Amino acid sequence: MLSLKTTRRGTLRIYVGTKKSWKKTMEIPPAKLSVFDIGKADAGLLQSKELYQYILETNVYPNEAEVLKELREITVTQPWSVMLCAADEGPIMSLVLKIFNAKKTIEIGVYTGYSLLVTALALPEDGKVEFIESIALPVLDKLLEDPKNEGSFDYAFVDADKGNYKNYHERLLKLVRVGGMILYDNTLWSGTVAWEDDSSLDEHMKSVKDVFVDLNKKLASDSRIQILQLPVGDGLTMCMRLH
Ligand SMILES: C[S@@+](CC[C@H](N)C(=O)[O-])C[C@H]1O[C@@H](n2cnc3c(N)ncnc32)[C@H](O)[C@@H]1O
Repeated sequence: MLSLKTTRRGTLRIYVGTKKSWKKTMEIPPAKLSVFDIGKADAGLLQSKELYQYILETNVYPNEAEVLKELREITVTQPWSVMLCAADEGPIMSLVLKIFNAKKTIEIGVYTGYSLLVTALALPEDGKVEFIESIALPVLDKLLEDPKNEGSFDYAFVDADKGNYKNYHERLLKLVRVGGMILYDNTLWSGTVAWEDDSSLDEHMKSVKDVFVDLNKKLASDSRIQILQLPVGDGLTMCMRLH
């Protein structure tokens, strides 16, 4: 006879024998979790599908502009739709842009342009969005070669290669005006930043988790900014430049 058992950690154990004496013959470890498994789980960071759906359906989707809805619906059919900015971040970005009366903004990490469109729709008619779809660091350095660009942006949104966030931070702190906002996406990385045991994560998830654990510490102790980390989407950290 065969008997299968799954341990709490997801390891599958296969036993052969009889009810009186079982012999373990094989152990199959659980597959490592990838960004596709937990990156954009239906439950979001709340880990409650019902509550997350409730938030989306009661106030996010009903207020989502038609063009944004269309773009989101097309993007989710794409193989890399896991990169799409979470819909519940849109209203926050839009509100921040309006509260701060942002006119000149910069965005790093565009993909199909959902967050870019959120920004464009929230700006006044004379507003301007710069976006970087090529490798961003040299573009930021180029912008900083012209002193006129220093402190000239009201708002920045970063949702690109995670390992470079700390480098973007230093440059954006020069490009964004005092009192302006820099927003970083994915800073809770599917909640994994709080996992002590990350052995079930694949290499990519683990290395990005380490990047965010480090970045979150650095941002929290950076006296040049005032921060707020929100558990929306995949974690959104808002930084206001203080000086
Ligand atoms: C998570 S997606 C951005 C999602 C987008 N904010 C949205 O609303 O759907 C990340 C994007 O960053 C871009 N990217 C990756 N490395 C980059 C780099 N070094 N500089 C600029 N963009 C980069 C990728 O090509 C991709 O388009």
